[in-house]
Amino acid sequence: MRPEIAELTARARPAEALPDAMPPPARWQQKRPGEPLGNAHYLARQSGFESNARTYPRKLPIAIRRAEGIHVEDADGRLYIDCLAGAGALTLGHYHPVVVEAVQRAVADGVPWQTLDLTTPVKDAFVEELFGSLPKAFTESARIQFCGPSGADAIEAAIKLVKTATGRRSVLAFHGAYHGMTHGALGLTGETGPKLAVAGLMAEVHFLPFPYAYRCPFNLGGEATWQASIAYIERLLDDTNSGIAPPAGMILEAVQGEGGVIPAPDQWLREIRRITREREIPLIIDEVQTGVGRTGLMYAFEHAGILPDVLVLSKAVGGGLPLSALVYRESLNLWQPGAHAGTFRGNQLAMAAGAATLRYVKEQRLDRHADAMGRRLLAHLQRIRQDSPQLGDVRGRGLMVGAEVVDLRAEADRLGARPPCREVARRIQRECLDRGMIIELGGRQGSVARFLPPLTVTENDIDRIAGIFGEAVRAAG
Ligand SMILES: Cc1ncc(COP(=O)(O)O)c(C=O)c1O
Repeated sequence: MRPEIAELTARARPAEALPDAMPPPARWQQKRPGEPLGNAHYLARQSGFESNARTYPRKLPIAIRRAEGIHVEDADGRLYIDCLAGAGALTLGHYHPVVVEAVQRAVADGVPWQTLDLTTPVKDAFVEELFGSLPKAFTESARIQFCGPSGADAIEAAIKLVKTATGRRSVLAFHGAYHGMTHGALGLTGETGPKLAVAGLMAEVHFLPFPYAYRCPFNLGGEATWQASIAYIERLLDDTNSGIAPPAGMILEAVQGEGGVIPAPDQWLREIRRITREREIPLIIDEVQTGVGRTGLMYAFEHAGILPDVLVLSKAVGGGLPLSALVYRESLNLWQPGAHAGTFRGNQLAMAAGAATLRYVKEQRLDRHADAMGRRLLAHLQRIRQDSPQLGDVRGRGLMVGAEVVDLRAEADRLGARPPCREVARRIQRECLDRGMIIELGGRQGSVARFLPPLTVTENDIDRIAGIFGEAVRAAG
């Protein structure tokens, strides 16, 4: 065992012995000749030439040299368990053989790298695979629009699509939502911080209360949270004096990710579907982060047994390579030729990688695996929380798991929730990093420690992740 791994194992092992897990890739045993310079060198250069908007390097000050599976190695030669996985884009982890093989085959076959929206056998196969992963009742009369290449690009397209189809102008979004950082997508995002400096964001966006029971917008908590949200939304839509014109669409995440890992109750989603159907409001479900097995089913909307009118996909759907698309009901297909375009809509390597990923997730039932691994991680976190009241809440669905960090010095509200605590969350993230694990922060004031490991994570990996996290929480105080 390499010394770094031995150290990692020793530090991560809690009182009850954990099994040895996650040996690093064998080929990493050999140091490469001419080792590059260390983290400090690359970080100093990065802060010298990159924009002040950079985010991750401030919280995770490492330079990543190589990656495989769930491991990454930094430029100092330290190893980490990667629970960020490209913000959920790397469904099968780094360099999964299935993805590598698909990309290598495409290159060997001389597939063009990008083709605008011209068709190719690779694209055809991708669409076949993608539609095959979705409920038949949705795809039997669905269209696909490739957008390019980020999640936010697809959100922009979705808004244009429903505005064009309905002739209406306002859009309904939710508190805590995250839909991306482009001008329109930012307009639909809940967090006000990045919006304040940008004048003139998309007009006529109305924010509705998301069923976040831990910090209930109605101060009710429990089941009453989603019930009150539904009652409020339904009345608001039927109130001629609500100040909101009939909307072009409603957009939501079935599990809010960046917003702090908040799964919407299935009943709430079913009621939202009823309300939007009855009022002919196209329902846009943003599965950029939840899609392709992450929440325990192929798509998060399936938990509630509903269908969207517009489905937004990116991240995992390209097997970790840049790709995004909308799949939407035929009845919304009122775009004129050229109504939506863009150069990078035809990323063939991403389509090859995405098709292979979709196939593998389906064949290996990685959605079910994500469900089991997510439950295991949640059970660990519940146990850690018993001795660590600074974890106010732990929650998740499948392999979208979060622990909300609260301020123990402050009073609890009448539902028992103390205010979010960014400082302690950051310390926990840093303690995790020091122990060889990368986690993400999200939620109100960045107070939610988030776990988005690849779907290929093993039981032993999960036990190690929880072991390291428990230590980090204790060390952060
Ligand atoms: C739910 C959701 N929608 C949209 C986006 C934006 O995707 P991108 O960062 O690729 O623009 C994200 C990114 O995290 C997301 O989580």
